[in-house]
Amino acid sequence: MLVVSCLSWARVVFRGPNILLTANRGSLQVNPSTKVDDKRAANRRHWDQTLDARNLGADNAVGSDWRHEVDLAESADVRLAIRLLHPLGDKIVLDLGGGLGIHAILFAEAGARVVIADISVERLKVARELIRRTGYIDRVSFIACGAEELPFVAHAFDRQFTKSVLIHTQLGRASAELVRTLSPRGSATFIEPLTGNPFVNAYRRIAAPDIWQNITDYFDRKSLRTLGRTFRASGYTTRCHRIYFLAFFASVFHFLLPSVWLQRRVERALLALDRLLFRAFPSLRGRCWFSVTEIRPKHPK
Ligand SMILES: C[S@@+](CC[C@H](N)C(=O)[O-])C[C@H]1O[C@@H](n2cnc3c(N)ncnc32)[C@H](O)[C@@H]1O
Repeated sequence: MLVVSCLSWARVVFRGPNILLTANRGSLQVNPSTKVDDKRAANRRHWDQTLDARNLGADNAVGSDWRHEVDLAESADVRLAIRLLHPLGDKIVLDLGGGLGIHAILFAEAGARVVIADISVERLKVARELIRRTGYIDRVSFIACGAEELPFVAHAFDRQFTKSVLIHTQLGRASAELVRTLSPRGSATFIEPLTGNPFVNAYRRIAAPDIWQNITDYFDRKSLRTLGRTFRASGYTTRCHRIYFLAFFASVFHFLLPSVWLQRRVERALLALDRLLFRAFPSLRGRCWFSVTEIRPKHPK
């Protein structure tokens, strides 16, 4: 167990074989209990070596341009998730698979306290340096652990968030851990990529890194059912939003021509086009790139 600095948050208490600790602001802790099979080891190795904010293995570590990366990451799916998680002020947020901490910065800016839990210690080290630079370090903790065995007590979190993370996990176990650690009055939003978009599928076949095929199970109906069923069985309601059919192409600007201004305009135009298409051909929703699963308590008060 590595504890780098200490200032305790009373509520997020860890459990583990011999440990009972509180989440420490600005600290990086490594959960020692992880059993790993070959697939999970390959997954962890890949993420330990992928240290760019856009998760592509490119050589563009986030530096003084972190504001630009955060603005770029605030795409329509993330804006929707943040709206669904409102209010965030003083809430304790689990950013599972939070990687380099880009979304955690958005949550901290909205007044939340954030625990980034990620399987990759190397990513968390980069995240900690980045968040130190932003000035939000007192609002964020960093925990290395697998989604399948979260080292937190039951009901620890008011809010939970993932983006492109559950596709790398053993979904049944990860969902069970998420529901166990969400407060009964808490809410969650999980953004995960789907199998059905023909343009994305072509990209995945032709240009995406080969390793993705081994470490990724893109979401399909069955995955969405597994996630939804787990939360509904514990008294939450679930709703699945789908986003980006043609609007997938806005991401091309994200990667090739990283102007936030241009990206927003292209994204807005393509989303409007998607809405028209969905109205004319409702089944096209099934061809979207991302699902945004909204979780809310059945009886909020
Ligand atoms: C595609 S990246 C997404 C990172 C971040 N959410 C984002 O959108 O920029 C996937 C992240 O999930 C983490 N991850 C993969 N498998 C995991 C697991 N089983 N448990 C926890 N984190 C995991 C990786 O280390 C990586 O940071």
